[in-house]
Amino acid sequence: MPLFSVPTGELVIPAIAPSPRPIENPDGRTSFASDAPLFSLIVPTFNEGQSIEALVAVLTERLNQKWIGQYELIVVDDDSPDGTWAIALNLTETYPQLRVVRRQIEKGLSTAVIRGWQVARGKILGVIDGDLQHPPETLLDLLEQMEQGVDLAVASRHIGEGGVSTWSVVRRFLSRGAQMLGLLLLPSVVSRVSDPMSGYFLVRRAAIAERTLNPLGYKILIEVLGRGAIKTIAEVGYVFQERQDGESKVTWQHYLDYLHHLLRLRLDRDRLGVFVRRLNFPVKRFLKFGLVGGSGVVVDMTILYMLHGVVGLGLTRSAIAAAEVAIISNFIWNDIWTFSDLSRQQRDRQRVFKRFLKFNLICLAGLVLKVLLLNLLFNLFGMNAYLANLLAIAAVTLWNFWVNLKLNWRVTQVK
Ligand code: GDD
Ligand code: MN
Repeated sequence: MPLFSVPTGELVIPAIAPSPRPIENPDGRTSFASDAPLFSLIVPTFNEGQSIEALVAVLTERLNQKWIGQYELIVVDDDSPDGTWAIALNLTETYPQLRVVRRQIEKGLSTAVIRGWQVARGKILGVIDGDLQHPPETLLDLLEQMEQGVDLAVASRHIGEGGVSTWSVVRRFLSRGAQMLGLLLLPSVVSRVSDPMSGYFLVRRAAIAERTLNPLGYKILIEVLGRGAIKTIAEVGYVFQERQDGESKVTWQHYLDYLHHLLRLRLDRDRLGVFVRRLNFPVKRFLKFGLVGGSGVVVDMTILYMLHGVVGLGLTRSAIAAAEVAIISNFIWNDIWTFSDLSRQQRDRQRVFKRFLKFNLICLAGLVLKVLLLNLLFNLFGMNAYLANLLAIAAVTLWNFWVNLKLNWRVTQVK
């Protein structure tokens, strides 16, 4: 079977399945089979050449027990260097229910899944990881739930017999932390399921069709919950298996994308958000700036402790030195990360130094502003001192960011 062409344009899933499956006849003519399957399972892959065959084999074996002829598997590969798409394509002879999409331009897990759903023909759409970390047998339980009429059936690590096999404390902490953050920023979406991070679920086409989806990064379920018309949900417990081959593609960038995705959904959902969106506020840049600011606090405290606590320098002098070191550190991070796209265009030493001086001035002004604001809130409005301080920090961070963006890292006189 040939490769399927990649849908382009907006990420909208059609309400009715796209054109039927083409069949190559022995005489060379192409005819079309109209036997659209009941459900379509997407397998997003990137460098899963070592596991894809085993996955297709065991999925087929399990599904054929009850659903033979009623499903299709769609591998959506992002042009993996290990040639996963080619390996999968080879398997289509043995597994006619397997289809392969090779993406060469667009990248990323969430959009891969949606592109797969766009070419899918089933009334039920699903997704499973390509590395065998999602146990295939759970699929039968998920399908059973869909048969009962729910809109969404999610495999969950946090319900019933579910769990993770041998995750490190760090990974468990990060996973739960991400979930808590989701609960804070987007409670109406994230609280609907016990495992909003799951990438293993089935959803009714009708619940997500004809809506423009706009996901970012890894967490496609959040997008489905946030933008779909999901009325009823079922959950099935499963144990997240250890990876046997290949490696996880999760990087720090994905955590940032996740945060950005949550904020985007949040903003799209309420009126204040629509307003903020119109302002065209650079959310991602601001998040980076905020993170850098946070790291500066750590630097500041560390230096203060070293100078005052260890060396025994006076408090004021120590504090000033600590603040300056933090400013230098923040400047470097902002220059090479937050505003890297802009600083790259003006890299000569003089310019960098000028930016550094300006950054110092803006931070200093920010400090004065902060003290003023804190006093105003505390003395005039009688606010709790710590709350006032927190508010002042937030306001000044925003101010620092905005002024730096508009006056410091803007691109001027590019040759
Ligand atoms: N097409 C495509 N493009 N596929 C990708 C990409 C990409 O950019 N990045 C990752 N994948 C595929 C992988 O090949 C794998 O099949 C699947 O997406 C999951 O990626 P992993 O890198 O193995 O993710 P994980 O095991 O750390 O993370 C999983 O965490 C959840 C539990 O918190 C998620 O992927 C969820 O599916 C899972 O339930
Ligand atoms: Mn994995």
